[in-house]
Amino acid sequence: MKSAESPITLHVFVCTNQKPPGKACCALSGGKELRDELKDRMAKKHPELKSKVRINASGCLDKCTEGVACVIYPQGEWITHASLKDLDQLEEKILALVKNI
Ligand code: FES
Repeated sequence: MKSAESPITLHVFVCTNQKPPGKACCALSGGKELRDELKDRMAKKHPELKSKVRINASGCLDKCTEGVACVIYPQGEWITHASLKDLDQLEEKILALVKNI
């Protein structure tokens, strides 16, 4: 095993988990679409942050009935009930957090 300091300063994990039919999950709430749109937006509008910010798909964050669930690190900030309507707000939050790191 090897370890090294990460160049990434902010990780945004967006749950895209799909559960069996009949069970609440972020995939049903648009998790994959939200993650893809947020990632595309950050890449297009803020290419200078490519080496610092990652918008990752995650597995279940145990907030399945409150999806789409997201968590931002290193702050450890949880976001629930997120949707495509929140893209502007998520972008603003990411920019503010990166500025303060
Ligand atoms: S499926 Fe997203 S938190 Fe569980």
